[in-house]
Amino acid sequence: MEDAHVCGMAAYDKLVAEADADPSGYWSRLARELVSWKTPFTKGLDDSQAPFFQWFADGTLNVSYNCLDRQVERGLGDKTAIIFESDDGTVSRVSYSDMLARTCRLANVLRARGVKKGDRVVIYMSMSVEGVVAMQACARIGATHSVVFGGFSAQSLRDRIEGAGAVMVITADHQLRGGKQLPLKAIVDEAIALGGCDAVADVIVYRRTGGAVAWEPSRDRWMHEEMQAQPPTCEPEWVGAEHPLFILYTSGSTGKPKGVQHASGGYLLHAALTTKWSFDMKPDDVFWCTADIGWVTGHTYIAYGPLALGATQVVFEGVPTYPDAGRFWKMIQDHQVSVFYTAPTAIRSLIKLAEADATVHPKRYDLSSLRILGSVGEPINPAAWAWYHQHIGGGRCPIVDTFWQTESGGHLITPLPGATPLVPGSCTLPFPGITAAIVDEYGNDVPHGQGGILVIKTPWPSMIRTIWGDPERFKSSYFPAELKGCYLAGDGAIRDPLTGYFTITGRIDDVLNVSGHRMGTMEIESALVAKTDLVAEAAVVGRPDDTTGEAICAFVVLKGARPTGEEATRIANELRNWVAAQIGPIAKPKDIRFGDNLPKTRSGKILRRLLRSIANGEAITQDTSTLENPAVLEQLAQKN
Ligand code: WT7
Repeated sequence: MEDAHVCGMAAYDKLVAEADADPSGYWSRLARELVSWKTPFTKGLDDSQAPFFQWFADGTLNVSYNCLDRQVERGLGDKTAIIFESDDGTVSRVSYSDMLARTCRLANVLRARGVKKGDRVVIYMSMSVEGVVAMQACARIGATHSVVFGGFSAQSLRDRIEGAGAVMVITADHQLRGGKQLPLKAIVDEAIALGGCDAVADVIVYRRTGGAVAWEPSRDRWMHEEMQAQPPTCEPEWVGAEHPLFILYTSGSTGKPKGVQHASGGYLLHAALTTKWSFDMKPDDVFWCTADIGWVTGHTYIAYGPLALGATQVVFEGVPTYPDAGRFWKMIQDHQVSVFYTAPTAIRSLIKLAEADATVHPKRYDLSSLRILGSVGEPINPAAWAWYHQHIGGGRCPIVDTFWQTESGGHLITPLPGATPLVPGSCTLPFPGITAAIVDEYGNDVPHGQGGILVIKTPWPSMIRTIWGDPERFKSSYFPAELKGCYLAGDGAIRDPLTGYFTITGRIDDVLNVSGHRMGTMEIESALVAKTDLVAEAAVVGRPDDTTGEAICAFVVLKGARPTGEEATRIANELRNWVAAQIGPIAKPKDIRFGDNLPKTRSGKILRRLLRSIANGEAITQDTSTLENPAVLEQLAQKN
C-alpha cells in the first residue's frame, strides 16, 4: 500500500503532531481541502460556549452541493454513484448526474409542499436509492432530516415524529426483505393515528412494490407523480456550517431515546475525511457499507462520505441470508467490491452458516477484488477477525476495526489501512486529531494497562452539537462535571502498555449492544411494564451471546401468580411480541424469566449485577445476605 493516502506510521505521527500543535488550524486546513464553501469560514473552532462547540461557524455551504453538483462539475457526471442491488437481485446503476437530477426534483417537491430551511422531515424507508435521495434532498433545501430505521414500530416512529416536530414524512409503500413484503406506509398511518403528529402536513410515498396501501388524499402524495412535475435543477439553500443537517435518535441509559443533533460543515468534513483515510478511498474503488440508512453508519458511510468523495458504492436492499448465506460474497464478486464494511454480528452469523453449508462458503466465490475490510458497531472477537481476514480478505486485506458512535459523526479510533500495524480485537489508535484518552471517574488519566473510562479530551468537527430540544441533557450526558470538560463516550477501554493501542471493553452505562444496535435497558423495561394487565415489575440486563454480541435478558414479575411450564412459555412469547410492537423486533428479549419478585436489597434497590450473573448462568458468588428475598434467585434462573 505504498500509495495509501496516509502511508506508514511516520505519516500518521506527522498528522497527529500537526493536530496537537494547532487543532483548529489542522481541522481548518482539511476543511478547506475537502469541503467546498460558498462563503469561506474565517475561524475553525469556537469554544466560547463550551460544551456547545462550533466549527467553521461563519462559513456557508450546502452538503448536497458538495456531494453531487461538485462531482458533476469535476467531470464525474457519468461516473456511477450507486450500484443498487434489490432484494430479488435486480441491479441498477445511478450516475452522479442522475443522482443530482433526482435529488433536485425531490428537493423541489419538498419546497413546493412548503418545507422550509430548518423544518424537520422524518424519513422512514428501507434501503433504496430513493432513501439516499430523500436525505440529499433535505440537505439541499436546508431541511433537517431524522431518519427512522424501517424496523421500528409505529409507537417508536410516532415518538420520533413528535419529538422532532416533523412537518413531513417520506416513506415507501412497502419494503422487500428476504423475499417478503413488509409494510412501511401502513406503519406511518398507524403512527400518525396514535396522535401527536399534527405538524405532519404531507406524507410522500415512494412506490416500491405497488402493493395495496390505504390513502389519505389530503395528506398522501406519490413520490414519482410529484417528482415528474418538477424540474431536475434546484438552487441549493446555502446554510451556515452549524446548521443542523440531521437528528438521529439513539438510546441512552435513562429516559427516552435522544435526538442526536449534527451540524453541516464539521460533519461533512469528517464524513469525507474518514471515508478517504480509514478506507483509503481511491477513484476506482467500489465501496460497500452494508449498514442501513436508519443508523448513523448508513448516514456517514452511505449517504454522505462516499458521495462527498465522488466514489462508487453499492447499496443493497436485502438481507445477507437471502436467497442464501452466500449473498454478500456473491455481491462482492459480481460488483468487484474493493472496500467492504460490515458488522461483526453479520460476520459471526455467516461463519456459522458457511461452516454448516459448504455451498455458501466464501471460498466458492472470487473475492480477489477486495483490498480493504472494515468492521463496525461492536468489538470484533479475535476468532471472527481471523476468519474475516483469511476467508474474506484472502489474508491480504487489512481490517479496519472502526470505533465510533452516533454522537461522534464518524470514526474516532481506527487503524488507517496503509499505516497502522493491526492487532486483532483492537481498534488501535485515534484518528489523527481525535484526542482519545482513558481516565478514572474524576477525569484523571490512568496509566496504560489499566482499564478506565473512554473520553475525548478536546472537541472535533463532527461531534454531536446537542440533544434535540434538551441542551441540559446534552451537558449532563456527555460533559459531566467530574470529567473536567472531557467528552464522555459511554464505553470502557484499556490501552496496551507497549503499543498504546485501545481495546474497547464495552458500555459502562445501561446501554446494550445487540447485533451492533444500541438498546437502553430502561426502554425495554418501560415497554414491559406498559403491559399493565400482566406485568408488575421488570428488569432487563444483557448477557454475552456468540452471534449477536449481547442478548437481552428480561426478569419479570407478573401481577398474577408466577407462571410455570407451558403457561410461562406462552406468556413469555406474548411479552416478546408486545415489546416488538412497542419498540421494534430488535428489542425482543431473548430470555424472559419469571419470579415472585426481583432480587432487591432491604432498601428496595434491584441488584442488577446479580441479575447479570443469573442471566449468564454463572454460580452466584456475590454476598446475598443483604437480600430481602434470596429465594427468588432460583426461580429467576429458569429460562422460558
Ligand atoms: C456504540 C455506539 C459506530 C456506528 C454504529 C453504532 C459500540 C461501535 C465499535 C467498535 C467496539 C464499538 C460502542 C459505542 N461500538 N463500534 N469498533 N468496537 N465497540 O453506533 O449505535 O451509536 O453505538 O457501539 O459501545 O459506544 P451506535
